[in-house]
Amino acid sequence: MSDWLLKVDDLSVRFSGSKGVTHAVDGVSFEVSPGETLALVGETGCGKSVTARAIMRLVPEPPGIYESGSILLRSSDGSTVDIALADQDDVRRIRGDRISLIFQDPGKALNPSLTIGRQVAEVFGEHRLGMIFEAAGLDASKAGRVPRRIVQQRAGVVSKTGYGIIHRSAARRLRRAVDDAVAGALAETGIPNPRKIMSSYPHELSGGMKQRVMIAQALACDPDLLIADEPTTALDVTIQARILELIGEMQERRRMAIIYITHDLSLVREFTHRVAVMYAGRIVETGPSLDVLANPQHPYTQGLLASIPRSGTARGQLSAIPGSVPQLISPPPQCHFAERCPWAAPVCHKLSPVLTEIEPGRAVSCWRFHRNDLVADEMPEPASEWVTQG
Ligand SMILES: Nc1ncnc2c1ncn2[C@@H]1O[C@H](COP(=O)(O)OP(=O)(O)O)[C@@H](O)[C@H]1O
Ligand SMILES: [Mg+2]
Repeated sequence: MSDWLLKVDDLSVRFSGSKGVTHAVDGVSFEVSPGETLALVGETGCGKSVTARAIMRLVPEPPGIYESGSILLRSSDGSTVDIALADQDDVRRIRGDRISLIFQDPGKALNPSLTIGRQVAEVFGEHRLGMIFEAAGLDASKAGRVPRRIVQQRAGVVSKTGYGIIHRSAARRLRRAVDDAVAGALAETGIPNPRKIMSSYPHELSGGMKQRVMIAQALACDPDLLIADEPTTALDVTIQARILELIGEMQERRRMAIIYITHDLSLVREFTHRVAVMYAGRIVETGPSLDVLANPQHPYTQGLLASIPRSGTARGQLSAIPGSVPQLISPPPQCHFAERCPWAAPVCHKLSPVLTEIEPGRAVSCWRFHRNDLVADEMPEPASEWVTQG
């Protein structure tokens, strides 16, 4: 694949703490193309959120350390920027302008003391002034500081309008343009009666409504890449599906790329093109979603699949895989899954396998796929197979 929008290469992110260094993300590589949805899947604690935050340079440093790797973002003119090395001004421009993030818990991400309208308007005030000026029939390049501050004040980006003179009708047009843009962004997410919602506070809305507001906020600036970190986990199943459908519809209109992070494989089939399965900070299997789900190769992926209840309605409990994700503090150089793996052989406890291509577009990190006689000799029959429920 050569038309990538985002290319993460050998990314490692660590956290230093009193107990040692946590290897949260350990040599992760993947690409996302325009219009594509990549699922990042794995149990809690596997490094999915740290990967997402690293792409936005939102990992706090310290305790976080960008140990290695690059995060390349390509522009429509073909130029690229390495987010891992970009300065703060560039990072701020990329955030919200080119990449948006939706978090798991909309309740926490929204400010309880500001109206919904204010919070969505902020995005326009910070990133889309030109668009607002155009909608108000004004030329942004010729407009001075005052009209700019009127928009930003309406959006809550600045608290006071600067001193100066602007025609009252122009000011009114600008304020109306901001409100129209906000109402439009909310309407696009299927919120009924957006003008009414604009004057509401977060606590007055249901979880599903709040999540829609978050989506409106994330998509208001028309990003090239949306990162949705477990965006529906707090919602009930029918609303989850509706929200994902909605994101999919908006994606088609915009040719936006999406990284959809979830611990729940059951939603991956319907909503994503490719999947990368993460375990203990590493990608252990990747490929087209349908192929990986129909024919999982890594024992961890097989275990995740076996733990999806058959009806596909309840959330996967991951009960088919005994044990839990290991602590990532100074992990030993071995397959991190070895302790939980029914296939584990002596080599798995001694050396780390590498992600190996098994067919075009499909790769697995497991010693069973290294064509190495010595390894083959050490591979026993599985002690047990995953039990599929239902
Ligand atoms: N700010 C932080 N400080 C220290 N450790 C962290 C921090 N954020 C995440 N971690 C650690 O990084 C690892 C991966 O976490 P995370 O990416 O949140 O997992 P996931 O999103 O897959 O559930 C975990 O071991 C977690 O404890
Ligand atoms: Mg997470």
